[in-house]
Amino acid sequence: MQKTYAEIYRAWKNDHKGHWAEAARAIDWFSEPTDIFDAEQGVYGRWFPDAVGNTCHNCVDRHVTAGHGADAALIYDSPVTGRKARYSYDELLTHVNAMAAVLVDQGVEKGDRVILYMPMIPEAVFAMLACARIGAIHSVVFGGFAASELAARIDDSTAKLVVTASCGIEPNRVVAYKPLLDTAIELAGHKPERCLVLQRPELAAELKAGRDVDLGPALAAARDAGRIISCAPLAATDPLYILYTSGTTGQPKGVIRDNGGHMVALAWTMRAFYGVERGEVYWAASDIGWVVGHSYIVYAPLLNGSTTVLYEGKPVGTPDAGAFWRVVEDYKVSVLFTAPTAFRAIRKEDPEGALVKRHDISSLRALFLAGERADPDTIRWAEAVLGVPVIDHWWQTETGWAIVGNPLGLGQLPVKHGSPTVPMPGYELHVLDDAGHEVAPGTLGNIAIKLPLPPGCLTTFWNADERFRSACLSEFPGYYKTADAGYVDEDGYVFIMSRTDDIINVAGHRLSTGAMEEVCASHPDVAECAVIGVADALKGQLPAGFLVLKSGVSRESSLVEQEVVGLVRERIGPVAAFKTAICVKRLPKTRSGKILRGTMQKIADRVDWKMPATIDDPAILDEIAEVLSGRRIV
Ligand code: COA
Ligand code: AMP
Repeated sequence: MQKTYAEIYRAWKNDHKGHWAEAARAIDWFSEPTDIFDAEQGVYGRWFPDAVGNTCHNCVDRHVTAGHGADAALIYDSPVTGRKARYSYDELLTHVNAMAAVLVDQGVEKGDRVILYMPMIPEAVFAMLACARIGAIHSVVFGGFAASELAARIDDSTAKLVVTASCGIEPNRVVAYKPLLDTAIELAGHKPERCLVLQRPELAAELKAGRDVDLGPALAAARDAGRIISCAPLAATDPLYILYTSGTTGQPKGVIRDNGGHMVALAWTMRAFYGVERGEVYWAASDIGWVVGHSYIVYAPLLNGSTTVLYEGKPVGTPDAGAFWRVVEDYKVSVLFTAPTAFRAIRKEDPEGALVKRHDISSLRALFLAGERADPDTIRWAEAVLGVPVIDHWWQTETGWAIVGNPLGLGQLPVKHGSPTVPMPGYELHVLDDAGHEVAPGTLGNIAIKLPLPPGCLTTFWNADERFRSACLSEFPGYYKTADAGYVDEDGYVFIMSRTDDIINVAGHRLSTGAMEEVCASHPDVAECAVIGVADALKGQLPAGFLVLKSGVSRESSLVEQEVVGLVRERIGPVAAFKTAICVKRLPKTRSGKILRGTMQKIADRVDWKMPATIDDPAILDEIAEVLSGRRIV
């Protein structure tokens, strides 16, 4: 009989290594792990330190060798271009081999960093897997970031090569990638040797002689020649990828994922958590630029031998709020995973769920939500219109897979709306006060994970062990600080309430208000500023910037506001959705000079707030409230 969640969690708690040794059997290793965890290696220990394997082999070759080559591996559906394609595991292997051959021909070797600045097209998946095949470390950069964000990632990773496409396609415009890449390379101190550019029919890019390579013909030549590049034998501890995520400064943090732990953890989640079998269709409606896309568009479904859907479209507007149901019907999707914001967008356009009824979604077994807090209202609506379990789960770029969730594959636990349910095996959660003492059930505190982190979680930040220690491990010794605040109730259900740092979540996208403040402060007329996340019914949160102008600035404040909005779009990118900058006379501060961002946010969100005891001048908060109501923000 299948074990229950409680049995598996208990067994893991009694024997961490035993649990993961068992899970590691699902992986096809070149050399099996004999040592499961070595506490002496790395920053907090390393999983499977003596194992050798290859992630691409487990995602592709292995299924072909096992006789499943004809099964569908990847379905590409692009309502923004009208293109659709289906790749079997056999075909995926051919394409990945061709991409790997092109990379090798350009001199890419094991350990080299390759930046992928790609829209949601099959070549992006081929490139990720090709890097994994040869042991190159990919770093995917989301298309909605600006050139300077791309430059920061090129510099930090010192990438040898960039793979890109001529454009991405947003419903309202074609986004020319190549000029952004050219600017990024100009801005970057480190210059990649080569850029492989895939020309899309929607917009041609100009290629720079000597540096840029036309990727399409190079791939075709490699395919025609039947090039085969064998999977490199990699240590389980070798890095698979770097994914940059927002930190508390403008400098993004390069989360490193290893090969072995990542394979073991993700393969385990597909069956035990999502309840998906080989051959079933799994769709994560996210973007490969985010962690959800890495883990659940690319790696986990392919490790599992399932079919994954790569959707180049939006939940609404491509062409309407029925787009998701059309995809579910067309490909018989079993499990859908997306961010709550997508459902809020769909609900806004189709409040009665009329478009759902126009499609046969009987293949759908469950909807999983993550990326931001899933508000109970949205969950209830989704449950009602879909008639399937709606499962919230909490995780972070750093962890790569669910910390807390409701494991469908082990038998669904009762749902409490507003809670992502219970910790997964691998995670021992503690709720701590600021001094590091455990708080009572039901009491809000800092959520911390007892070390070691399980397989699949970040091992460190790229070239920045010390930053990893100081940002994540030093505040609560022996624990990883999640920077999320929440509580655990009497039944052990976890509730995630807010971040404890400057991160905000805008339409499921993780952004740093600190990074936005750095940009606002760089405007020559701005003396000081504060950026906060204001609650938004659709996107969860939206950033709003408060600017204090330098004395003597005589220009219209509305002009400065517009310029600052433009500056954030230019430096961070459209994804920041920074559309509100407001000039104020002064900012509320404590007597020691700390800006009271939390109180400003409460005023903007119209929730109860108390006058902070340490405030320097209480009148400033009234001024802020007045400005916000004048702008109709409250
Ligand atoms: N390349 C270039 N620009 C992009 C982009 C990309 N890949 N993705 C988004 N942008 C742009 C958008 O075009 C928009 O630009 P605009 O200011 O000119 O309109 C801006 O960035 C903000 O985008 P977004 O916040 O996504 O807003 P939206 O109005 O375009 O769409 C949703 C709203 C809710 C439909 C959309 O955010 C969504 O589908 N979210 C799902 C969240 C998700 O996938 N999260 C990943 C974790 S699960
Ligand atoms: P990201 O690294 O982009 O995945 O963002 C991680 C952050 O998003 C977390 O630290 C949380 O603040 C938030 N988050 C993600 N999933 C959830 C969830 N299910 N409930 C509440 N917050 C979430």
